[in-house]
Amino acid sequence: MRRTMILVPLALTFLLVTACSSDPAAPAADAGTADSAPSPDSSAPAFELPALWGAPVLADSDDAPDVVSVKLVAEKTKWTLDGVEYDMLGYNGKLPGPILQAKVGDEIVVELTNKLDEPTTIHWHGLRISDQMDGNPRIQNPVKPGETFTYRFRAREAGTYWYHPHVNSNQQVERGLYGAIVIHSPDAPRYDRERVLLLDDVLVDDKNGVLPPFLGSHPEIMHGRWGNRLLTNGQASSRVTHTAKQGNVERWRIVNTANARTMELEIKGATFRVIGTDGGPLEKPYTTTRLLVPVGQRYDLEVSFEQAGKVELISVTQSVDANNQLVEVPYAVLSLDVAAGEAPRAVEWPAFTPPIGERQATRTVTVELNGQQVSTGVGIAWTMNGQANAKDPLFTFDEGETVRIKLINKAGPEHPFHLHGQFFRIVSDGNPWTDQPGLKDTVLVPGLSTVEIIAYLDNPGRWMAHCHILAHAELGMMSEMVVKPAQK
Ligand code: C2O
Ligand code: CU
Repeated sequence: MRRTMILVPLALTFLLVTACSSDPAAPAADAGTADSAPSPDSSAPAFELPALWGAPVLADSDDAPDVVSVKLVAEKTKWTLDGVEYDMLGYNGKLPGPILQAKVGDEIVVELTNKLDEPTTIHWHGLRISDQMDGNPRIQNPVKPGETFTYRFRAREAGTYWYHPHVNSNQQVERGLYGAIVIHSPDAPRYDRERVLLLDDVLVDDKNGVLPPFLGSHPEIMHGRWGNRLLTNGQASSRVTHTAKQGNVERWRIVNTANARTMELEIKGATFRVIGTDGGPLEKPYTTTRLLVPVGQRYDLEVSFEQAGKVELISVTQSVDANNQLVEVPYAVLSLDVAAGEAPRAVEWPAFTPPIGERQATRTVTVELNGQQVSTGVGIAWTMNGQANAKDPLFTFDEGETVRIKLINKAGPEHPFHLHGQFFRIVSDGNPWTDQPGLKDTVLVPGLSTVEIIAYLDNPGRWMAHCHILAHAELGMMSEMVVKPAQK
């Protein structure tokens, strides 16, 4: 069965709020406590971070081996695509921003200076840190123009993450404020190359050299802002060919940073296996021919070049043809010329233990995703349990609780649901798009469908829960869930 994105007019009749149901008969929680990061072992040899391909890495200005201190400046920048110059935004003038890299257990200190005309924050998407440092504008006063704020947190888990603003995000992210975070595990195998691939799209009016107005069209309000150009690491995807070598085995860290476009990835001329997800390295890598990557999600792939020649990473995207039918359009988002070499070596994947093991849920709650017509603004509000921009938390959980969250999409457009500060697993129900092993922080809920997740609420705090289609988030599909700290 294929994922469906149903292009029907928004159903305006689903106004009923579903009460959260709890299951009192469920067995007592076998709740683990929050996992602590491994303590630094002073006898261990210094770990050398692998070189990363894809964007410059932020320079660590701190001499301490377990502290990474960096500076990010959010600022306006000029950016050129296909010979046309646009006014964009960048971290340190770059689009995407530089890669923030550290190793598991490091303390990270980021000094953010806001040189924009508007307030901003940075959210460290996927990292399980303190809610005070999470970029939530309801907790942290957004950083005003001209101001500086220092974020401090510890990298508890290895993996591929990303950072972006959480204020006016449909505009700030689209205009270029996003970057990758790589947290290395000292146990990871060494690859011939590690590539970071930020897959994106952008909507440009190239005749006038501007970005069309935000929320300026009905499709954008309904489905989020879909671009008319695909970008890989901030460059036109189709324009550049890179090189690789037969026999090499590479690690690709993929992030879908688009505002709305779900990507479906295939590879031609090489093979890959999935070695990591949102929540870091997998216990058991797996192979698949097509990988569904909704916005916000990450995948780490191990790519083997068995033969010389051309290799393409293809993003199969859905588009609407002249008859309003959905059609698949393949685009190469990375093209490689593979030089002749030898047969690939086999890479042994070490026994990774996930930071959170599987646990039984002791409670079930429901989140209804819907839209409704309103008389203000653009005329549509996107809602979670009937509320747009809910002021009060949807739920209050206890630290260590394991909760089954039923995500019920009552309307046609799809919603990639993202929960801050926690990991969850997707409950497989036999559909290819729910058969996604590993820990996640983002899951796609297709149109008029229900997807269930098991969330491990081990990180106390106030956590945003929202749709990662940034237009939907700005139009109300934004809420919070509270995890009450355990009595110590
Ligand atoms: Cu990447 Cu609240 O989001
Ligand atoms: Cu949505």
